[in-house]
Amino acid sequence: MARKSLAVILAAGEATRMKSSKSKVLHPVGNWPMVAHVAAAARDAGVDHIALVVGRAGEEVAKAAGLAGVPVTPVEQTERKGTGHATLMAKDIIAEGFDDVVVLYGDGPLIDPETLKAAVAARAGGADMVVIGFRAADPTGYGRMVVENGELLEIVEHRDASDEIRKIDFCNGGIITMSGDEAVSLLEAIDNKNAKGEYYLTDVVSIARSRGRKVIPLEAPEADMMGCNTRAELAEIEAEWQRRKRLAAMLDGASLIDPSTVWLSYDTRLGRDVVIEPNVWFGPGVTVEDGAVIHAFSHLEGAHVGKGVSVGPFARLRPEARLAEGSKVGNFCEVKKAEIGPGAKVNHLTYIGDATVGAGANIGAGTITCNYDGENKSLTVIGENAFVGSNSALVAPVTVGRNAYVAAGSTITKDVPDDALAVARGRQENYAGRSTVLRERARAIKAARKAEKAKS
Ligand code: UD1
Ligand code: MG
Repeated sequence: MARKSLAVILAAGEATRMKSSKSKVLHPVGNWPMVAHVAAAARDAGVDHIALVVGRAGEEVAKAAGLAGVPVTPVEQTERKGTGHATLMAKDIIAEGFDDVVVLYGDGPLIDPETLKAAVAARAGGADMVVIGFRAADPTGYGRMVVENGELLEIVEHRDASDEIRKIDFCNGGIITMSGDEAVSLLEAIDNKNAKGEYYLTDVVSIARSRGRKVIPLEAPEADMMGCNTRAELAEIEAEWQRRKRLAAMLDGASLIDPSTVWLSYDTRLGRDVVIEPNVWFGPGVTVEDGAVIHAFSHLEGAHVGKGVSVGPFARLRPEARLAEGSKVGNFCEVKKAEIGPGAKVNHLTYIGDATVGAGANIGAGTITCNYDGENKSLTVIGENAFVGSNSALVAPVTVGRNAYVAAGSTITKDVPDDALAVARGRQENYAGRSTVLRERARAIKAARKAEKAKS
């Protein structure tokens, strides 16, 4: 029978070192709140419910954790009395009855669900308590794991540790899995007689041992255990997260020419044989279908890029840009809330917003859809195979019909019927010899001014 498990995510800390007006766990990694990553790891490990211990901005934090799609119940810790005290805030939820309670910290977004699964599996295999540890390159500040014959005897916090214990490099990663039946009684037995005067969650290890329970450590890679306390650490975590996401994209068949310059979001989807040139930014909500090329220095967000499409260099795709198969959006073009039909071309220096562009249409350089009157947004419809000449302004709401032709430099304010030519600009007149007259006049003025200046 499947085990029922609860994750208790601690996220009530003050995070003073972040120097931020918002909760630490709301800071994004891969454009997703840190706490959502933690909740998603719990989800992928098969956790049934999440109890989220929050301090300030509780509702916002709970909403962010909820993005992972697991039911989240926020509980408030009004005073910061330590990680043991924080965990106990979830007492009523724990009491609902779970086989396993997994306690983890909201500021460790790189945690691998496999590690959590391994902890639950070890419990199923007979361990009463399982603690995830890691070998720290620099163990300063971490709780040290005292292990004997494969069993964990105790965790000693850095501040409380003797010199001998401080030599141990096996550190507490902050994930403790215990029996749902015993969790509350273990947590209630924690006291605050230590260097910080706090209720340390880590004391549950020695308390369980004193009751004859079997406590075992599991080792995870240090990189998975990175916790975020400062903005500098946030940047390190982001770098590691990006490295993994890029690697996954490449293993799935996308070519990243210079991976370290491509920035991905938690939900970026890149198809096979997609080529991403250097310096490309993917905000949330972007899908790139097979065979598309994103040229250098492009910025995409909330966009769908169809098969074989070419984007950029220097293109900006904003939310609800949908580029159909074989279409092209070239340099210095911006597309927002617009459909670009199959094979259509928007090649140079153009803004297409609140619009549909029909299949095979060609939008000349410098075309602007004038979608905003200062108060309202209006739609521009461009028919199949239409041709819009360079430097045209299409004042929405307006329709350019199928196969229609818009002369360069036009300002279109009325609908253009199918197959029609629209010209909306001053008509050109040529005056023979007039250029010479004008130039001579200009030269005469220049000479007169020079003479004037020499006199004074
Ligand atoms: C903790 C562990 C330490 C471990 C390290 C790993 C304890 C006593 N120590 O130390 O063994 O090596 O993490 O990173 O647990 N929190 C609350 N309420 C509180 C206090 C903390 O919700 O009253 C939350 C924080 O928001 C944070 C987490 O608990 O997400 C950990 O707290 P933190 O103060 O960072 O613990 P460390 O000193 O890093
Ligand atoms: Mg910490």
